[in-house]
Amino acid sequence: AFNLKNRSFLTLRDYTPREIAFLLKLAVDLKTAKYAGTEVPKLQGKDIVLIFEKDSTRTRVGFEVAAYDQGARVTYLGPTGSHIGHKESVKDTARVLGRIYDAIEYRGFGQEIVEQLARYSGVPVYNGLTNEFHPTQILADFLTMQEHVEMPLHQVSYVFMGDAGNNMGDSLLIGGAKMGMDVRLCAPKACWPLQEIQDEAQGIAAETGARIMITEDIDAAVKGVDFVYTDVWVSMGEAKEKWAERIKLLTPYQVNAALMARTGNARVRFMHCLPAFHNTETSVGADIKAEFGLDAMEVTEEVFESPASIVFDQAENRLHTIKAVLVATLGA
Ligand code: CP
Ligand code: NVA
Repeated sequence: AFNLKNRSFLTLRDYTPREIAFLLKLAVDLKTAKYAGTEVPKLQGKDIVLIFEKDSTRTRVGFEVAAYDQGARVTYLGPTGSHIGHKESVKDTARVLGRIYDAIEYRGFGQEIVEQLARYSGVPVYNGLTNEFHPTQILADFLTMQEHVEMPLHQVSYVFMGDAGNNMGDSLLIGGAKMGMDVRLCAPKACWPLQEIQDEAQGIAAETGARIMITEDIDAAVKGVDFVYTDVWVSMGEAKEKWAERIKLLTPYQVNAALMARTGNARVRFMHCLPAFHNTETSVGADIKAEFGLDAMEVTEEVFESPASIVFDQAENRLHTIKAVLVATLGA
């Protein structure tokens, strides 16, 4: 077994492949126990503060229900209502929260904020999404992949289509490199991860045997993959003005039925961290329709609603994998 007590979870780069595998195994065990009615609470008496400087559905409910299932209590601090970052520095807030809470979750802007919270609070800090990384999402994605293919992760291939320089592209690149997978990012050069993240992933791959391809060539990227993954073209915190530019750059990389067929794999699955712009039912979807005449952005309704789509398995697995992180780092 692995002792991850009191560890923060800021990026997957801080965890070894065996530690990541351990968290995935723990998530499977916790998921099984929950549905068998045999879950044993290991977080009784723990208090966890959840800081959200950006909106969230899955990550928030994942942390809240995981904590409650395990007997912990949570405090939610939303985008408004606390002093963090405007009237009080992150360093001061960290020292206050570290006196009162056993752990801190943070969703918001720069990666340096989760690092500062960890440095000054003295308690485990969990990255619930920053501009650069979304590591708890990757655990859920890898668990979901495992549930859908009968092979070890190091034999699995996936392609991320679209805005590959965002938190999801970065995290799928580093995470897949860690687990020795066949990782492909397919995007115009302007949307590739920073060179330093590409170099880091290549360095990890040299040790783990991962195969990494970062390319503009759609046919090469999608050929034979087990999973096609995409994410929004404009992330939280980016200006709405980016839409026009990204639509122009990324339309060829949209995940539609033709693209799924180009994989040549009849059993290919579709993945998305969500939320997704696949129709015009939401207010944002309606705005995109009004401004650009598009019914969808990164994925079509047809693919999103197809049997190949496993996006709600991913969403459910946020709960079980977040719980694994809490139990491993904080559990009795
Ligand atoms: N995938 C994800 O992190 O979703 P939320 O923004 O709803 O938390
Ligand atoms: N890249 C997206 C992910 C949302 C879960 C964003 O940062 O908005």
